[in-house]
Amino acid sequence: MITFALSKGRLANSILDLLSQMDIHVLDVHESSRKLVFVSQDQKYRFFLAKPSDVPTYVDYGIADIGVVGKDTILEENRDISEVLDLGFGKCKMCVCGFSKAKSVLTNGEKIRVATKYPNIAKTYFELTNRSVEIIKLNGSVELGPLVGLSDVIVDIVESGKTLRENGLEILEEIETLSARLIVNNACLKIKYKEINEIIDGLEQLVGEKND
Ligand code: PRP
Repeated sequence: MITFALSKGRLANSILDLLSQMDIHVLDVHESSRKLVFVSQDQKYRFFLAKPSDVPTYVDYGIADIGVVGKDTILEENRDISEVLDLGFGKCKMCVCGFSKAKSVLTNGEKIRVATKYPNIAKTYFELTNRSVEIIKLNGSVELGPLVGLSDVIVDIVESGKTLRENGLEILEEIETLSARLIVNNACLKIKYKEINEIIDGLEQLVGEKND
């Protein structure tokens, strides 16, 4: 059996749609359900739904052979896994955002206060661009940071831009474009080479067709 760890929510729905186009149909998946583990009709595949930041952990430990997770989480968690395919959905950008007036704080050499759910990505980015920062870890609604005066800027994901617009914030610097990725456990890839490569090849073909 091949086991998948999926990021709960939109990414899980998108990958299950793609897999159904490869005739892998999952039983009992309903949006309203609280069930966490599923099997495919043919019993060849098992799926579990995890918090996105935990998906690389399950794959690293070999509990799941394959994972589906955003590139943001891969960068932040920095686990010993292989990223094998850009799935093309879940597209967004990792950005430095804030009020327009915060542009000067980013360039005047002073220490920058940065609120973020992604402390590792933020730390690496500001180190690479030779700026000194104080990183403040938040767990959600990060846009509040500059709004209430906790931080000068935030490092966060921008998808539609709606959250920024509705709060009077803007993109000040773009760090990286992101999307959902297929990741695999390195040992499982060797042991279950044929089965895992069938999945990768099937998905690659579908994703390629979509992008054509
Ligand atoms: C994410 C992200 C931004 C927002 C961006 O938050 O952290 O806040 O979505 O999307 P937009 O550009 O389409 O507005 P999420 O909805 O995951 O909630 P959270 O803030 O509680 O983490």
